[in-house]
Amino acid sequence: MDNKRKYVSVSAEFPGPKTKALLEKRKQFVPRGVGNTTPVFVQKGQGALVLDVDGNVFLDFAGAIGTLNAGHCPPEVVEAVQKQAEQYIHASFHVAMYEPYIALAEKLASLTPGGFAKKTILLSSGAEAVENAVKIARKYTGKPGIVSFTRGFHGRTLLGMSLTSKVKPYKFQMGPFAPATYKAMYPYPLYRPEGMTEDQYALFCVEQFEDLLLTEAAPEELAAVIMEPVQGEGGFIVPPAAFVKGVYEICRKNNILFIADEIQTGFGRTGTMFASEQFGIEPDMITMSKSLAAGVPISAVTGRAEVMDAPNPGEIGGTYGGSPLGCVAALAVIEKMERENLSARAQRIGEIIRNHFKVMSTKFPIIADVRGMGAMCAVEFLDPATRKPLKEFVANLVKKSYESGVILLSAGVHGNVIRFLTPLVITYDQLEEGLDIIAESIGGLAQNESVMTH
Ligand SMILES: Cc1ncc(COP(=O)(O)O)c(C=O)c1O
Repeated sequence: MDNKRKYVSVSAEFPGPKTKALLEKRKQFVPRGVGNTTPVFVQKGQGALVLDVDGNVFLDFAGAIGTLNAGHCPPEVVEAVQKQAEQYIHASFHVAMYEPYIALAEKLASLTPGGFAKKTILLSSGAEAVENAVKIARKYTGKPGIVSFTRGFHGRTLLGMSLTSKVKPYKFQMGPFAPATYKAMYPYPLYRPEGMTEDQYALFCVEQFEDLLLTEAAPEELAAVIMEPVQGEGGFIVPPAAFVKGVYEICRKNNILFIADEIQTGFGRTGTMFASEQFGIEPDMITMSKSLAAGVPISAVTGRAEVMDAPNPGEIGGTYGGSPLGCVAALAVIEKMERENLSARAQRIGEIIRNHFKVMSTKFPIIADVRGMGAMCAVEFLDPATRKPLKEFVANLVKKSYESGVILLSAGVHGNVIRFLTPLVITYDQLEEGLDIIAESIGGLAQNESVMTH
């Protein structure tokens, strides 16, 4: 045990005996394609802390890939789900309707950006929200084409994969993919060509998008553009505002719908309820999931009422779409986020994380970039001499961190980025402890690598 720590405690024998036994069974009964980033089996979660089946305690800096902005098991959410489960667990909205679905649709209409009339369909997963947004866009516009962006991630279904642009592991040997899907260039400010100013780079990227309308698909063939306002899986890349606004305006002029995929950016993560607000855009549709309901599976597409009404009855939906448990959990999460102003907390958490790594970057030149919006922060590692992405280093850092008590996630097409998705209810004390552990892990690994220090 590490007695220096106030919150985490991980035995030197990690993974412990119960975990080892479960890992054996997992190997026997669960396909390896269902990947894992840590060998942790959870016993209990509370706020930003996770207790495993062997009694180890971790700080959760991954938040179930951005699902836990409101933390593990917020008491309000647990209570709402318990109460709902005592009444009815499911009735299927297509058969017998229920009030929580209506209440959540009404709430999302006022919460999402855009002063126009809105409607919402509720589903179960992020990929399903993306699929439905695309169906609705095609139905409304009568056009087939969908544009997504390089390094974007939109899910693991056939259409989700088709819109996603990291080949391994998400698409490799899984094709052929859905037709009429196109990839436009997404900015990557770290790799801005030398000699180009930030403004010039934003303009250049907008021009690349305009070129796509000439070289790949005409606006008359395009139903929608789907964009993550800040890329998640792609490496927490914050695009220049002028790029997002530029593409949005081209869509407006050309009768192309703009879908903001806020599945990872939503619900306070970037410092506002939705990242779109910070880019000054009002998307025609927004896809949401993850932190919407603190881990109860539910997703949503909220959009302009006339767009959302394009499909005929029966053309969209699903048996489990908008499960009552998910609806009441989401309502409790939103109420909590507003009451505790978790968006403002995200701003502060983000500042602390970025300051921490900016200071570290003066000592460790492998830290090539510290970036983010609100608490959606990332650190990118490159070899300072060759500028090569340090994928293996980041994999080792993730391992060393969880062995020392911090559950951490990597990201980026090169796997050389660590991203922070801590619950927004994490205490500042817990945050500092987690950051110290990561700093020590970097220091420890750096001793073994010549590229790490000046
Ligand atoms: C931006 C974005 N879109 C879509 C998805 C897919 O969501 P799900 O895994 O719930 O299908 C994700 C998941 O990471 C995501 O980050």
